[in-house]
Amino acid sequence: MLNQALAHARNQREQHLDQLIEFLGIPSISTLSEHKRDIERAARWLATDMTNAGLEDVEVMPTAGNPIVYGEWLGAGPEAQTVLVYGHYDVQPVDPVDLWVSPPFEPQVRDGEIYARGASDDKGQMFAHIKAVEAMLAAGGKLPVNVKMIFEGEEEVGSPSLEPFVIEHKDLLAANSGLVSDGRIVDTNTPSLVYALRGMSYIEISVKGPKRDLHSGSYGGSVHNTAQLVAEIIVSLHDENGTINIPGFYDKVRELSPEEREALRKVPYSLAQWQEETGLKTPWGEKEYTLLERTTARPTCEVNGMWGGFQGEGGKTIIPAEAGAKISMRLVPDQDPQEITQLFGAHVQQFIPADYTLEVLEHVHGWPVITPIDSPEIRAAARAYEATWGKPPVFTREGGSIPIVATFQKELGAPVVLMGFGLDDNVHAPNEHFRLEHFYRGIGTIIHYYHYLSSQV
Ligand code: BES
Ligand code: MN
Ligand code: MN
Repeated sequence: MLNQALAHARNQREQHLDQLIEFLGIPSISTLSEHKRDIERAARWLATDMTNAGLEDVEVMPTAGNPIVYGEWLGAGPEAQTVLVYGHYDVQPVDPVDLWVSPPFEPQVRDGEIYARGASDDKGQMFAHIKAVEAMLAAGGKLPVNVKMIFEGEEEVGSPSLEPFVIEHKDLLAANSGLVSDGRIVDTNTPSLVYALRGMSYIEISVKGPKRDLHSGSYGGSVHNTAQLVAEIIVSLHDENGTINIPGFYDKVRELSPEEREALRKVPYSLAQWQEETGLKTPWGEKEYTLLERTTARPTCEVNGMWGGFQGEGGKTIIPAEAGAKISMRLVPDQDPQEITQLFGAHVQQFIPADYTLEVLEHVHGWPVITPIDSPEIRAAARAYEATWGKPPVFTREGGSIPIVATFQKELGAPVVLMGFGLDDNVHAPNEHFRLEHFYRGIGTIIHYYHYLSSQV
């Protein structure tokens, strides 16, 4: 049955690729409201494809935000394991669009890679899950496990509708474990299983001072410039070592054990790879931690954007009435995102002079995640990678965030397996791509996973 399913998936490669191209052609950008229609179109497209794959009770479920697409196959019976598969069909914006070699929503295959927004994050990876189930059902008429699939359209905006949905639909979503492919492996020859994700607190601050922009000649020297104030706040966030200066920020950080540091040192993530991916030579940041520790196991505070005053052509001599910044903090166990938002707000408030106002807006909060690596699910996943990639996976942490994973663990009490198939892939950047070989191996890994999961319980 395993071999028939694998063979079926192999025979269908061309068709799977054609379908993926169609799916990637829908510009389902969740951060921009003008794409609401495209989001809905993507959800409907997905529901049709899931039904065609043999999933049952497929439904596009409306929410206060973007629809959730649900489908299930429960034919393995109540004695079998139930796996909850999650992915997101929304994508990031495409700007700067001029830097794309081919248009972001006209997928193109070049050198074994498919180029399109969402190719790797996450449409290509989630689509592999539907195709794996389709191949197993087509080849043998059944799966060795029950599968529930849930796909959302708001991951890139912090999953605001999915969290209440999970809490309200615990029975519908009940499962023994979760399965998520929305990340990367270390490199194409080094499959990896991720056992920790960082959480997030995403904040926007804006500072208002004088009642209007002021002539910088008439008033310069007498007014605390709002843009300067924002810069002063930003500078205050770190010390020279790159350690964060917000009082209380590290209080709940779980330090790495010597054993875990030892294990992470074996992950083949090299300085050369970092240099290649960033185009830089010299890393910045906390010297007492390795590069991989800094980017996955340590919390951060990053300026994502800042504004204030005149941005147009030429010079305009003003003191801006208002300035601001968008700042996101990546969190690690056991930091509490809402508590961190409060600590941040209190820290910034002391910089605000009398007469000035500060607004602090929390855009997203998501909890960090850590999963045990000695579970039957992880053992099955490790065997599945090994069978497909010819090498057992290394265990590593991930620096990015998938906010709903913590909710699954907390509300459903189900451990989540993070089974990524991507590489760097220019996710969130121009020329996002996904290796076709990884797409096909992804399908193979999932088929193996269900097989091993059911045979070892
Ligand atoms: N798939 C990513 C998370 C990720 C990034 C995994 C890099 C592995 C490597 C996810 O779609 C994402 O971008 N998440 C956002 C969440 C945020 C908007 C709340 C992130 O990490 O910035
Ligand atoms: Mn993603
Ligand atoms: Mn993303």
